[in-house]
Amino acid sequence: MKRRRTPVCAAFLVGTVISLSGMPAAVAQSGDAAAGREKAQACSVCHGQLGISTAPDAPNLAAQPSIYLAAQLRAYRSGDRKHEVMSVLSKMLSDADIDNVAAWFSSLQIEVKPVP
Ligand code: HEC
Repeated sequence: MKRRRTPVCAAFLVGTVISLSGMPAAVAQSGDAAAGREKAQACSVCHGQLGISTAPDAPNLAAQPSIYLAAQLRAYRSGDRKHEVMSVLSKMLSDADIDNVAAWFSSLQIEVKPVP
């Protein structure tokens, strides 16, 4: 009995450790970037087609961590963070929309260079 149990427990522990260590990445990539790209058309007026903002008061969204972007959108939606435009726009986004647009903007790559 004891002999058969040990490998099962070991497999369970290994499985648990793997799923725990994989968790942040899984959460960070939970959205559908292609669907988010469609939804983000409405955002491009201010945040740009590729997340580099065209409006002087709007922050760049390209390459921001999706966890951060989703948290900000949920904060606008709940009223924890307030802004006259974003508070209104965020209320039109479902949880899936938020995860998707966050996945889209975070999937974009940017290059940063110091001034030569
Ligand atoms: C009319 C212009 C405008 C549009 C359209 C717009 N935004 Fe914004 N967005 C802003 C401005 C301005 C801010 C900065 C607000 C503040 O100071 O809190 C902002 C902030 C944000 C932030 C917080 C970024 C950070 O660095 O904290 C996110 C995320 C965001 N917008 C996502 C979106 C998404 C997704 C859409 C489309 C559904 C969208 N925005 C549409 C103007 C806009």
